Amino acid sequence: MKKIRVIGIESSCDETSVSIVEKTGNKIKVLSNIVKSQIDIHKFYGGVVPELAARAHSDVIDKLIVMALKKAKINLKQLNAIAATAGPGLLGGLLVGVVAGKTLAHFLNKPFIAVNHLEGHALSIKLEKDIAYPYLLLLVSGGHTEFTIIKSFNSYKRIGTTIDDALGEAFDKTARLLKLGYPGGPEIEKYAMKGDGDRFALPMPLIREKNAHFSFAGLKSAVANIVAKNKCTERFKKDMSASFQKTINKIIYRKTKNAIDEYKKIVKSKNNIKVVVAGGVAANKSIRHTLEELGKLEDCEFLFPSIKYCTDNGAMIAYAGIERFERGKFNKSNFKPKPRWPLDKNAVFMKGKRAVEG
Ligand code: KG4
Ligand code: ZN
Repeated sequence: MKKIRVIGIESSCDETSVSIVEKTGNKIKVLSNIVKSQIDIHKFYGGVVPELAARAHSDVIDKLIVMALKKAKINLKQLNAIAATAGPGLLGGLLVGVVAGKTLAHFLNKPFIAVNHLEGHALSIKLEKDIAYPYLLLLVSGGHTEFTIIKSFNSYKRIGTTIDDALGEAFDKTARLLKLGYPGGPEIEKYAMKGDGDRFALPMPLIREKNAHFSFAGLKSAVANIVAKNKCTERFKKDMSASFQKTINKIIYRKTKNAIDEYKKIVKSKNNIKVVVAGGVAANKSIRHTLEELGKLEDCEFLFPSIKYCTDNGAMIAYAGIERFERGKFNKSNFKPKPRWPLDKNAVFMKGKRAVEG
């Protein structure tokens, strides 16, 4: 049976990753997925420093390519195409991955494929499960928060997004205010387990609006105000983490319910509804539990890719590369990385839109 092998290069944020994915008939196999996290570099600053991120990607990209090939037990000539994340993301990092990818493609005389990072997340579930279109994607990471209808390959409709911070960013900023470690999400989750989620009442921006848009900046400011008036004891950190996480869960519940209602109208079906949850925040157990509860009530199935495919990884880029390769969707060598690159071309840019309560 014919085999397609694509190498996927990811360097849009703070993980350098190279993976080789193979498709034989309908069967998908991840031959290797090497991930080098930059957490140790950025944790000192409490967030990703773009210049340091770009340098760190360029320090390791060549070695990771060699490691991915070795782990996959194949050589460069056995690849059918080279895929690299070309946006959205931090420009310095994108340039490193795209230049590495183009150089390999040119040298091997194989197609170069510029992958949208969000398409990688949108399709990542297919690395493990052969699910049919359409489905609803909830992407919650450090840089992105959106509901997008994955109608079919290359046909995406965004129905909700954040007008300010991404959800992971809200976790990270709150953790920073509480002097917890970086990345903040796992720290908040740990502290929240031992805290009183009812101690602090926090605002839920846009909650009354019957849409699937989010706003988290007001929530972070409210946490900052309470932090300023309190001693940052261990008890305080635990109760604030629990209160923050409880509030986030309420927001996610309501907005996901709104998104599902909208999805049902758009796809004109009420049955067999599937929601894929991807991005680093999808690792949060309380959020998973909240969504699963909603799933029981709404009679829809929530699907979570394995954590290694939820967070940034080269395998999802290689997979999107395979889908593009099969359709002959290649890119020229003058393709420029795009720091801003919405998956849905018609989606309105929402950042900074006024948070008006309905
Ligand atoms: O997808 P990801 O690895 O990288 C990108 O941002 O693209 O997501 C990282 C984000 C960080 O903001 C981190 O704090 C958050 O995901 N995160 C979590 C958890 N684990 C990671 N947020 C809440 N709870 C978690 N357990
Ligand atoms: Zn991502």
